[in-house]
Amino acid sequence: GIETYREQYRPQIHFSPAAHWINDPNGMVYFNHTYHLFFQYYPDATVWGPMHWGHATSTDLVHWKELPIALYPDSLGYIFSGSAVVDSNNTSGFGKNGKIPLVAIFTHHDPKGEKAGTDNFQNQSLAYSLDNGVTWTKYAGNPVLKNPGIKDFRDPKVMWYAPKKKWIMTLATKDRITFYVSPDLKRWKKESEFGLTIGAHGGVWECPDLFPLKLNGKTYWVLIVNINPGGPNGGSATQYFTGDFNGSKFTSRDTKTRWLDYGPDEYAGVTWGNTGNRKIFLGWMSNWEYANQVPTVKWRNAMTIPRELSLRTVKGEVLLASLPVKLNAITSKTLVLKPAVKPDQDLLAGLNKQYKQFKLDAKLNAKPDFKIKLSNDEGEMIVVGYDQQKQNYYIDRSASGKTDFNPNFAKNAYAPRLAYAKTSDIHLIIDASSIEFFADGGLTTMTAVCFPGKPYKHLHIETLKGADIAALSVSGMASVHGK
Ligand code: FRU
Repeated sequence: GIETYREQYRPQIHFSPAAHWINDPNGMVYFNHTYHLFFQYYPDATVWGPMHWGHATSTDLVHWKELPIALYPDSLGYIFSGSAVVDSNNTSGFGKNGKIPLVAIFTHHDPKGEKAGTDNFQNQSLAYSLDNGVTWTKYAGNPVLKNPGIKDFRDPKVMWYAPKKKWIMTLATKDRITFYVSPDLKRWKKESEFGLTIGAHGGVWECPDLFPLKLNGKTYWVLIVNINPGGPNGGSATQYFTGDFNGSKFTSRDTKTRWLDYGPDEYAGVTWGNTGNRKIFLGWMSNWEYANQVPTVKWRNAMTIPRELSLRTVKGEVLLASLPVKLNAITSKTLVLKPAVKPDQDLLAGLNKQYKQFKLDAKLNAKPDFKIKLSNDEGEMIVVGYDQQKQNYYIDRSASGKTDFNPNFAKNAYAPRLAYAKTSDIHLIIDASSIEFFADGGLTTMTAVCFPGKPYKHLHIETLKGADIAALSVSGMASVHGK
């Protein structure tokens, strides 16, 4: 067979498992100078199945080392999504001999209960690790938060709320978020609900996250709510609210629906815990519409590039922006190009003999007005552009390569421009089977996977109606797999 990480479509600058199926990122926590990434994993096939937590670690958010499976299904069920915390004060009592425990809070999904038609088959449970997340012990008192009779009752994201010296659990409960509070991670009390009459409701609410972010010295709270289906371009997507959290209740500043990523292929995204004022977000780079059908063979699905979140005010609204984390560790060669490019100029001409992964950064002297074509010699291409009429960014992957595994895959994806500035900036990250597009300082973000027959190696940019380019550079990125 083909060597692992050399297969067709294999991401070279994104995390993907050596083999088999992954979905949501789980248990993301920074501990002892290491970023932990757990993930929904089925180690026996390349389709979804009985869920485990796989595990990988990184010190730079770019190079990932896959470790043994952290959590296996047990008599209480499959191990669904959840989070992990550093219990520095040993509130849980799981710490021993002065060792600080890492505690995972996850959903136990009981397939037998589901099949029997009960409505309480999803419950919240704990496991802890005293060896940097390598081995885990499940708590004998599981589950710690029992289902009151809501079929969709899952994906706990837990954080320490210092003003009250309590843990806060943000839980997805079907069509709303329910907040719970605990002194010790074991005893949970319901505090409040949010969202029944606000936000997008085209599908079930899943994988939430709650955290504070500062803007001009003022603290705002961000509530992330993943939803499937009902995303802006169909299928699964990540919405968010900005507002306030007082230790028991979240209030949104307004009632608008907003999306962290408008592309078709960022889902179940949440942030790392224990990173101080920095907030780093990671999503699953797929969509439940076709995640089980994408044409990879040995493994299926990958994560996005980690993204740094920040808040911005735009016309009185507080918006969440996301930009890729610094990729210095793999940025091997950067070409600063003369901004006066011709439409037929291949921007990758000086890079594509050596590299297959690329980054493009551009600044426009004007509002967005461009068309970027990424193509190969087989005539396959993926287009990212701005539609003046619709005032929308778009991704057109109808001719990007293999698209026939699902009827919805070839549809265009659209995203509104949320900035009003007279200038604009664009960033594009290109891997073997994905593009990630960031515009206007990350106010609009779009992620899309694609399956070209041969790697893309040509990049052309056309500015329409004379929107001139102020700065333009392209970088060749080294594979994180070392070849
Ligand atoms: C989201 C999700 C979660 C669930 C997990 C199961 O993609 O459906 O709600 O915990 O995947 O794998």
